[in-house]
Amino acid sequence: MPENILVAIAWPYANTEIHVGNITGSHLPGDIVARYHRLKGNNVLMISGTDSHGTPVTLAADREGKPVEEVYKKYHDGFIELFKGYGITFDLFTTTHTENHFKVSQAIFLALQKNGFMFTQKSMQWYSPSARKFLPDRYVEGTCYLCGYEGARSDQCDKCGNVLEPEKLINPRAKTGDGALELRETEHFYLDLSKLEPDVKKFLKERADHMRDTVIGESLGKIEAEGLKPRPITRDLDWGIPVPVVGWDGKRIYVWFEAVIGYLSAAIEWSKFQVQKEGWREWWTNPKAKQFYFIGKDNIFFHTSLWPAQLMGAGSAFMEIFAGDEVPLTLPYDVPANQFMNLEGQKISGSRNWAVWGGDALTRYDPDALRYYLTVNMPEMKDSDWDWAEFVARNNNELVATWGNLANRVLMFCDKNWEGCVPSVDLGSLRDVDRNLLAVIENGFASVGAELEAVRLRSALGEAMKLATAVNQYLDQTAPWTAIKTDREAASKTIYTALKAIDSLKVLFAPFLPFTSEKLHGFFGYETLLFGEQYTEEVRDSLGEHTVLRYRDVGRTASPTYWKPSELKPGAKLNQPAPLFKKLEEKIIEEERARLGK
Ligand code: MF3
Ligand code: ZN
Repeated sequence: MPENILVAIAWPYANTEIHVGNITGSHLPGDIVARYHRLKGNNVLMISGTDSHGTPVTLAADREGKPVEEVYKKYHDGFIELFKGYGITFDLFTTTHTENHFKVSQAIFLALQKNGFMFTQKSMQWYSPSARKFLPDRYVEGTCYLCGYEGARSDQCDKCGNVLEPEKLINPRAKTGDGALELRETEHFYLDLSKLEPDVKKFLKERADHMRDTVIGESLGKIEAEGLKPRPITRDLDWGIPVPVVGWDGKRIYVWFEAVIGYLSAAIEWSKFQVQKEGWREWWTNPKAKQFYFIGKDNIFFHTSLWPAQLMGAGSAFMEIFAGDEVPLTLPYDVPANQFMNLEGQKISGSRNWAVWGGDALTRYDPDALRYYLTVNMPEMKDSDWDWAEFVARNNNELVATWGNLANRVLMFCDKNWEGCVPSVDLGSLRDVDRNLLAVIENGFASVGAELEAVRLRSALGEAMKLATAVNQYLDQTAPWTAIKTDREAASKTIYTALKAIDSLKVLFAPFLPFTSEKLHGFFGYETLLFGEQYTEEVRDSLGEHTVLRYRDVGRTASPTYWKPSELKPGAKLNQPAPLFKKLEEKIIEEERARLGK
């Protein structure tokens, strides 16, 4: 029975471009897992979109002096280009600025209210009489009442590092220059997380066996130490989702409350394009569906506490409001959050240009070379470091030397000596050495698969690379390049065996290196594709028009599962091979380092 796998990936804020730390943090691991499950024949839905609301985005619009709609779309379109370039195969990459997302978010809000998990409370907030509006905390700067630093944000001081109570700030001023500020009373909705604390704890404990220790520690550990407290979930803003309650015009739903709801709304939006309009339920009302959330460590609380609390608190009331039937929603299965990737020993910083920008890197390097380094260096359990010298070394010594040359050498040799056909050997005549190699490779489908299922991606790729090394050792031992001169039959057996092993390795590497595996699949003469194709589409609704990125699963229609050992037949026709990877020159190390911080 195929499993239903939801691959949910963090929604990037529409306020900056994506760098390699973001890619290795969430997009790439999500894509690897999605591709693996597609190859296995499982029903995968991989979704995300642009996080278009909230002060990060309005601040970017202020900074660039442009309307916020224009700014969010500019970044959104850039994200889509980048995901196409890296082969990050979202079934749907949308935005939070859609009518559908507004409706779903408002229904979750109302369901939580109906179930008694919301209350309203008054508080004091900085107000600009000249701009006639309340200012979000991030918009107000002043002098820190703890250390005297004059450039403190009203909610946080970057000098002493303390979280501040905004109303205590000394000499407050608006970042936007909106004149003198005064404190005024405002009212907000609060999500009463304290009432949901027992449910969240139980939820986490039930998953502690398969969730990363880093994630359980950061969430369950924190709750046990500090407890969950009510959180305000509305803001005095005019960009975002209106509060669905009469008399609350001029306020908006807090961006984190609604962004996580995107995982649900995007699945619903995806369904609307399908013949099966209710298809999203396979991942959202089916209790057996497995949901994986790919995020960076700074997002852990929102995904392991807030989002499950919203889902459990809304309960079956969401479906009652939204769809008319009372069923609870499926809860996350795993949140394999990654740590951070640094760059040449320093924290990545966009503003200092201490970054390797995803789009820029693609103009000089192939996507699979970047995907390879970002996987072997993925910050799964601790922070990692992007180092240009290591990028070159691992590309040349592993990707090119161990895997690329193996495939190329064997295919070229076969092309030359067997006229582009798999050697016609009698399968019964294979030697022990051949059978042993094929058994080892066959075992890789279980061992690499087990690592992928547990989201240990570095180890999964390492395991596949070890198998490539085993094939190289086999070739050293059987030396077909010399045997061909004296014992053509022995050489035939070796090349048949090696080809079959490479054809299998192609699948084991495919989740990580999809572009080159697809190419290699073509060299082997298959007419089907391993994967589907990505394309964009324009969508229009009452909020305007935007582009979405989608994926059409062409490969799957041809074969329900590719995740199995090669069945390459003796005598089969092969296509003209070509090298899969490029060796990189040492000089790029200094060239790339010179770009940093400029
Ligand atoms: N926009 C947030 C960030 O970049 C992530 C949001 S993930 C979501 O940190 F699911 F909540 F959208
Ligand atoms: Zn301070």
